[in-house]
Amino acid sequence: MTQEPYSPRCYALVPAAGVGERSGAGRPKQYVDIAGRPMLAHTLAALAAVPRLVQTLVVLSPGDDRFEAALPDYAGWIARVGGASRAESVLGGLAELRRRGAGDDDWVLVHDAARCLLRPAWVDALIDACLGDAVGGLLAQPIADTLKAGDADDRVTATIDRRDKWAAQTPQMFRLGLVERALLLMGAAATDEASAVEALGLAPRLVRASMANFKVTWPEDFELAERCLRA
Ligand code: CTP
Ligand code: MG
Repeated sequence: MTQEPYSPRCYALVPAAGVGERSGAGRPKQYVDIAGRPMLAHTLAALAAVPRLVQTLVVLSPGDDRFEAALPDYAGWIARVGGASRAESVLGGLAELRRRGAGDDDWVLVHDAARCLLRPAWVDALIDACLGDAVGGLLAQPIADTLKAGDADDRVTATIDRRDKWAAQTPQMFRLGLVERALLLMGAAATDEASAVEALGLAPRLVRASMANFKVTWPEDFELAERCLRA
């Protein structure tokens, strides 16, 4: 009997356990309606349109009492294992993926719930670029604007050479075993998976996406996201 060679699977993991403080929405921003649907519904629809993702796991905060009412049609996995930081929420999600059968060599694409303008084609480009890569990588965008450092009074303190600078986005795609080890070592200080992987001395691949893959963060971002989604 011949055994099929094991081919790693790709999972999506969506941290959605934040409170959205900067958004000023007065409730977790992932549940704010944009173009007629909760932000999180747009995010999950984009991931569901990527056939190579075998499953999506949404990480909710332990006290979340909105998900089922806000997304009644969602058929993927959820787990109320969110933590105090994004990194802790992702770690909770990785442990849950293991409980559900994922292993060290499987790929995990971690994607912010708040990046609701994600397009399936960008996810495909990331998967294409990373499947054969020893480290993994992330969607990112080269910085076009001149970069300034500012002080507490909003005064410029320096102009920073932008030529080698990229804005990191999500999804960020790494093997489960690697990203879990990296996040455990770096702890809550890791604001994304790539920085934790970098701290291990590895160089994730930058995969160019689009400015349109922005993270809804500030109050005015909801309107911009709405216009993009309706266009
Ligand atoms: N997130 C999470 N668990 C946390 C913090 C954040 O799952 N403890 C998630 C958010 O729900 C979001 C993503 O990580 O989808 C990116 O975080 P961010 O945009 O900073 O969202 P919030 O932390 O909710 O917003 P803020 O920082 O303004 O409070
Ligand atoms: Mg945050």
